[in-house]
Amino acid sequence: MPHALITGANRGIGLEHARQLLERTWTITAAVRDPDAASDLKALDPGDGRLRIVKYDASDLGAAESLKSQVEGPIDILFANAGVMGPASQNDYRTAASEEFLDVIRINSVAPLALAGAFADQVAASQMKVIALQSSRMGSIADNDSGGRYVYRASKAALNAVGKSLSVDLKDKGITVLILHPGWVRTDMGGPNGNLTVTECVDGQLDLIARANPAMNGRFFHSNGQDLPW
Ligand SMILES: NC(=O)c1ccc[n+]([C@@H]2O[C@H](COP(=O)([O-])OP(=O)(O)OC[C@H]3O[C@@H](n4cnc5c(N)ncnc54)[C@H](OP(=O)(O)O)[C@@H]3O)[C@@H](O)[C@H]2O)c1
Repeated sequence: MPHALITGANRGIGLEHARQLLERTWTITAAVRDPDAASDLKALDPGDGRLRIVKYDASDLGAAESLKSQVEGPIDILFANAGVMGPASQNDYRTAASEEFLDVIRINSVAPLALAGAFADQVAASQMKVIALQSSRMGSIADNDSGGRYVYRASKAALNAVGKSLSVDLKDKGITVLILHPGWVRTDMGGPNGNLTVTECVDGQLDLIARANPAMNGRFFHSNGQDLPW
């Protein structure tokens, strides 16, 4: 049975990935900050052992290694999905430089790299061999014509650079690294005006992942399949 490890699987886009994959009879390791509070996720539990909920805080640099001791066997999809927007002060260049900037980098950019480091061999031992990084179009430098959002943009640009290097370094293990923009999705982060539902976003992302092949390695994709500029 295929197995996905998904971070931030307790709400938003990550929760929908867990829901759809459970429905397709996958085994899911859902890595969440507060397992006790993950009621929407627990409500998806088919009760047959296919949903495992583990504690994971992306702001803790050692979290990926701790997780590794709890997750056995091949991992078909390692989905580094958890992420934060960062403080409101980031919209003004005079206040954007802050300690919180560094916290966001830790969660959005460093934690996915630590996950890849901890789990690459288990991904390589699977059938699908996919590492998916939940980035954002806001991390595209070419696409930035509205400014602001210094912290979030920089953290996702850094994640894109991490993903590109991983795609080169893990190619010989047969791993495909996909750098993904979900679209503007109606979640707590995306707000109510987003133009995609979580279901539409995840339909698209799972379709991309199902088609993953070496020609897609290290590319930046919208959930609608479009290639995005760096
Ligand atoms: N929604 C959009 O339009 C959009 C657009 C572009 C990119 N994205 C990206 O898509 C991903 C998911 O976003 P979303 O819209 O689903 O956001 P969301 O509804 O705000 O969910 C964020 C998820 O990340 C988790 N998370 C945050 N900090 C964490 C930490 N330190 N350790 C572990 N988990 C943590 C949250 O867990 P808690 O419940 O514990 O906080 C939650 O599960 C993010 O990487 C985001 O940047 C979203």
